[in-house]
Amino acid sequence: MQVIQCCNLHKTYGSGESAVHALREITVGFEEGQFCAVKGPSGSGKSTLLHILGGLEYPSSGKVFFRGEDLFAYNDNQLSILRRRRFGFVFQAYNLVQELTAYENILLPVLLDKKKPDQKYVTMLIELLGLADRLHHLPSALSGGQQQRVAIARALANKPSVLFADEPTGNLDGKTGKEVLALLKHVSKEFGITLILVTHDLHIAEQAERIITLEDGRITWDSAPRQGGGTGDAG
Ligand SMILES: Nc1ncnc2c1ncn2[C@@H]1O[C@H](COP(=O)(O)OP(=O)(O)OP(=O)(O)O)[C@@H](O)[C@H]1O
Ligand SMILES: [Mg+2]
Repeated sequence: MQVIQCCNLHKTYGSGESAVHALREITVGFEEGQFCAVKGPSGSGKSTLLHILGGLEYPSSGKVFFRGEDLFAYNDNQLSILRRRRFGFVFQAYNLVQELTAYENILLPVLLDKKKPDQKYVTMLIELLGLADRLHHLPSALSGGQQQRVAIARALANKPSVLFADEPTGNLDGKTGKEVLALLKHVSKEFGITLILVTHDLHIAEQAERIITLEDGRITWDSAPRQGGGTGDAG
């Protein structure tokens, strides 16, 4: 089963001589529960693709389907509700609200949805991400790795179907980055969440079950038939 599919995506920024073709003819689908890495050089369109798949940005043409439903057929309000309930986002810059504690940041998407947090689940997330003794700190009092773990907990608080991560370890040192990546992999398997992760780091991409390579706005390589992933078998 594919959870996200896109069809003939094009994205052009600007027009005329200054037009930038960030994406061209992207048609691809993502399997439910799978960890897929999107790699490629700077400017190849990775973030643009992630933003469009996640409904954060509109394509110039083409379609995105979430479980068969056309994302961009929704109005802005419907789209933001779908995003909040079904998608989680983790970025390189942790994007935490500086005035709120770690705990308040984690609960924010649930509260925005006017829902009661699932306390058992949130507590489990906090334990899993090793944040229990940091909950009442402001982001400024947390290390980069801790801030990113708060951002991951926030992204997962609404039990999303798909977790989009754009260079989630880009600001972290090697060891912390490895830990954060391991946590992302773990939570996505634990909760059956599809993980679509953008990176330009081949070592990170090789941890995925599938690797897609973008170059100049096009998919130039897709390892889709490859099964298993992990660190041992990537050549
Ligand atoms: N808002 C924008 N306005 C104009 N051009 C943009 C905009 N966003 C992206 N672009 C251009 O689109 C192309 C793809 O950008 P994108 O950010 O998707 O690349 P990327 O693969 O994520 O790069 P990086 O690895 O550096 O993050 C680039 O040429 C970029 O300059
Ligand atoms: Mg990018």
